[in-house]
Amino acid sequence: MTEESKYEHVRIEHNEEGHYAVISINRPDKLNALQVQTLKEISEALESIEVDPSIRCVVLRGTKEYSKKPAFSAGADLSDRGSADLDPNNLRHQSHAMYRRHKYYDLIEEFHKPLIAAIDGYALGGGFELVLACDISIASKRSIFGLPEVQRGIFPANGGTQRLIKNLGKMRAKRMMFFGELLSAETMFEWGVLSYIVDDEKFEEFIHEKASWLGNAATNSLFLIKKSIDYGTQAPLNIGLQFEQMGYAINSQSKDVAEGISAFLEKRKPEFQGK
Ligand code: COA
Repeated sequence: MTEESKYEHVRIEHNEEGHYAVISINRPDKLNALQVQTLKEISEALESIEVDPSIRCVVLRGTKEYSKKPAFSAGADLSDRGSADLDPNNLRHQSHAMYRRHKYYDLIEEFHKPLIAAIDGYALGGGFELVLACDISIASKRSIFGLPEVQRGIFPANGGTQRLIKNLGKMRAKRMMFFGELLSAETMFEWGVLSYIVDDEKFEEFIHEKASWLGNAATNSLFLIKKSIDYGTQAPLNIGLQFEQMGYAINSQSKDVAEGISAFLEKRKPEFQGK
């Protein structure tokens, strides 16, 4: 693993063999609470990874070196006073504050390579909403999820009222947002928010296994599957199916398709190059 240190709120590590990077939110004293700066740094890190062919998958997580409690992120930093240029009593300024945050969540969701949310501990508010912007979510059994904003009189506006509906449907999403309940990883898995739950002691190994698998997979194929699901399913079925047809056609030009088929016929493991 090599490490860069140009960021203040996040840390980046590169697993060369697995062809994946780990972005760790690194604000342990605040349970990795998110400021706009944190979201900006995650987006900037993803932007640099986007054009780095040696990285083909990203894990987003809370720092392993926690000082208080393990956390993916406890949500928006409640001690943050907000941007100095925005008036807290001006309706349009406050809408703009949310627009700024939405831009970062959108950039994260639209990242072209597979993005795994690795959750060990609290994933609350904006932290939970960050999980919803990822492609795959893996949580340790001890993790706790929720949108507690309403308990503080706040609105869960980092995509909560919009992205969560797609995962949970109206009744469960409103249950979470109306009562601000904290729910277990088991419940989140049962409700379809999590791709996997794993025993606490197996968490690190499992993350490495899944990230390495995606990092060594056919990257173009994963990119096109991702976009077809994320955009195709927002359109009527006939348009979505067009996405599939185009995705299939574009993917057929990838070198990894030839490698995958040859490897199968030659009864060997494919060596995908992400090309
Ligand atoms: N923003 C800023 N600081 C936060 C934070 C947040 N969202 N969540 C936790 N922290 C800080 C706490 O202030 C505390 O700091 P301190 O030790 O300097 O006092 C530290 O993280 C540990 O939190 P603490 O509350 O002592 O831990 P706990 O185990 O008793 O409770 C939580 C954990 C996550 C349930 C609780 O901290 C909490 O409810 N946090 C707010 C979650 C929230 O409302 N998120 C949505 C924001 S819109």
